[in-house]
Amino acid sequence: MKKERDWSGLHFGVDYYPEHWPRERWETDVALMQEMGIQVVRMGEFSWHKMEPREGEYDFAWLDEAVSLLGRYGISVILGTPTAAPPAWLVNKYPEILPMDRQGRRRGFGGRHHDCQSNPVYRRYVEALVTAMASHFAENPNVAGWQTDNELGNSHGDLCMCPSCRRSFQGWLEKKYGTVEALNQAWGTAFWSQEYNSFEEVFTPLVTVTGENPSAMLDWKCFCSDLVVEFQQVQIDIIRRICPHHFITHNCMGFADKVNYFDLTRPLDFASHDQYPGGYYGKMPFEDNVRMAANLDMTRSFKGQSFWIMEQQSGMTGWQIMGRSPVPGQLAAWAAQSVAHGADCVVFFRWRSCCIGTEQYWHGILPHSGRPGRRYQELKDMIGKLSPHMDALWGSIPRAQAGIVFSYRQEYAIQIQPQHPDLNYVTQLLKYYGELHKRSIPVDFVEDTGELSRYPLVIAPLQYLMTNALAEKYFSYVREGGTLVLTMRTGVKDEHNICMSDRELPGVLGDLCGIEIPDYDCLRDVNVKVSFVGEKEDGVFFAEKWSDIITLLGAEALASYEEEFYAGAPCITRNTYGKGVVYYIGTEPSQKLLEAVMNRVLADAGVSGIGSADEGVELNIRQKGQKKWIFAINHTNQEARYQISDGAGCKLVSGEKEGLLQPFEIHLYQKE
Ligand code: GAL
Ligand code: ZN
Repeated sequence: MKKERDWSGLHFGVDYYPEHWPRERWETDVALMQEMGIQVVRMGEFSWHKMEPREGEYDFAWLDEAVSLLGRYGISVILGTPTAAPPAWLVNKYPEILPMDRQGRRRGFGGRHHDCQSNPVYRRYVEALVTAMASHFAENPNVAGWQTDNELGNSHGDLCMCPSCRRSFQGWLEKKYGTVEALNQAWGTAFWSQEYNSFEEVFTPLVTVTGENPSAMLDWKCFCSDLVVEFQQVQIDIIRRICPHHFITHNCMGFADKVNYFDLTRPLDFASHDQYPGGYYGKMPFEDNVRMAANLDMTRSFKGQSFWIMEQQSGMTGWQIMGRSPVPGQLAAWAAQSVAHGADCVVFFRWRSCCIGTEQYWHGILPHSGRPGRRYQELKDMIGKLSPHMDALWGSIPRAQAGIVFSYRQEYAIQIQPQHPDLNYVTQLLKYYGELHKRSIPVDFVEDTGELSRYPLVIAPLQYLMTNALAEKYFSYVREGGTLVLTMRTGVKDEHNICMSDRELPGVLGDLCGIEIPDYDCLRDVNVKVSFVGEKEDGVFFAEKWSDIITLLGAEALASYEEEFYAGAPCITRNTYGKGVVYYIGTEPSQKLLEAVMNRVLADAGVSGIGSADEGVELNIRQKGQKKWIFAINHTNQEARYQISDGAGCKLVSGEKEGLLQPFEIHLYQKE
């Protein structure tokens, strides 16, 4: 009897495209995979035409052959549904499945994701193909699970504005608002004569002559996210029904914004993520290490559980132009970083650099020649070191000390009106994340509907859209003893993206923060000097992008402005409320200012890191029951040192010398 949805023994894999290579080569590849410790292969996610060369004519023989060859070498398979690449025969027959951009132009065939995800005809073909594929592989003992489509939302920046999506949007709005009067009210359509007499009059947001309605845009972005979630659900329903023994996952992309990943991953067995620390087209990673770590913590946070990497960088990146080459040791350190943040399995993209198509320069473990070289050896060594521990690590995650509130709605609203031209929601969150990360404090990203009370510290930047329920959540979190950080641009708008007028900023949260903000300044091309009140702090501090000109109503001022017409006004405040403390940071603090404020925040919250380390060294913890594993990873090409705070009982189970890391070296400790 087959065990239901068991993927616990799979830890390292590759993405493989047998259809790109001569049949005679396959066995050489598979033998090399086995030799390096590969246990799982993902396949199929772009090969619709190979599976259905003509309408209704399914051909899975080639895939059967690949699956059984892998099986003979003890390697399991994840099948991707190939719905990211509809074939030419389908697009020619139904050109209306091509997506329409904001200019109203249909995009053409020849890339990928040239599909409209609301189109009913397209959905029919997707359903038929997924049904045929699932039925064919349901009982194949070598198939472990499924990936739906590929990076849903990717390539869909401003798609799709077609008539089918227009009808879907109208239906979505009708369900949400019930009456067109309610829609007019929520969108503030009295402005510029935008009233609608019926839902059928509403447009998709094609490019306008000038300006757009912020409320309509917010609903549009939420609709697009829901559409992608629904598109995936169609496939999930089919696979669940036909393949109850298989797991289902999807490869997300960290902070990509098109679809709400909390929603997208809810019906999945686990979340997966595609991790490219070398960046797209070569931004070197050193400056991006914080974002890479955050990507992984974000992925873990989607479902609050361990996850997979479905694509881990395995060489230089590039399409038309290329990024720099990862230096020896670096690919292994990046892969270990994924494990350290909670990946149970790391699948490398791709097995071999491709000789055909768009991605010829997105390098694989093997070079174009197919001969194993330095990347093969390096990753093989890394797999050899971590493999003995992966079964035990399975399912473990850090017990995070801090939660950073992440909301796609807040992000969308800030994208629609950034206010300051350089204000970016994710970048703002990552500033706070970076302060915790460098102190080796484990962090979760938490939805604003999620449970806050399990974190001694909650940081909630840019709480721009506010509802009574969310405000009450923050009140009760602090009342019960939490330490909360709120920032500039909080409580500005209601849930429909309309400015609130009943109180001064930050609205009802003013009572929690003990402040009021009757006036503010947008810092265009200027920073404003700030100083600490009372206690002396070393350094020169600045407010960047924004100044909230705060009036104290019970809070204490921690820092105040030194310049401009509001010199002397508080810029950062601290208030006690119930059993807790709330900080209000009325600006984007310069690096030094943020560091100094965070020192106080962390002291209030009683939160400290798992250790200290030289710059470029990352310390991470995974826990399961009473067991703990601590990782130390050197992301630099220099020797580096670190120290674990509560090292008592820690046993080094992989690595050489406690506390001292060679360039790109990885240490793993275990503690019972
Ligand atoms: C990912 C995608 C892969 C491949 C890779 C390199 O985003 O899922 O299919 O395109 O990037 O470009
Ligand atoms: Zn469409």
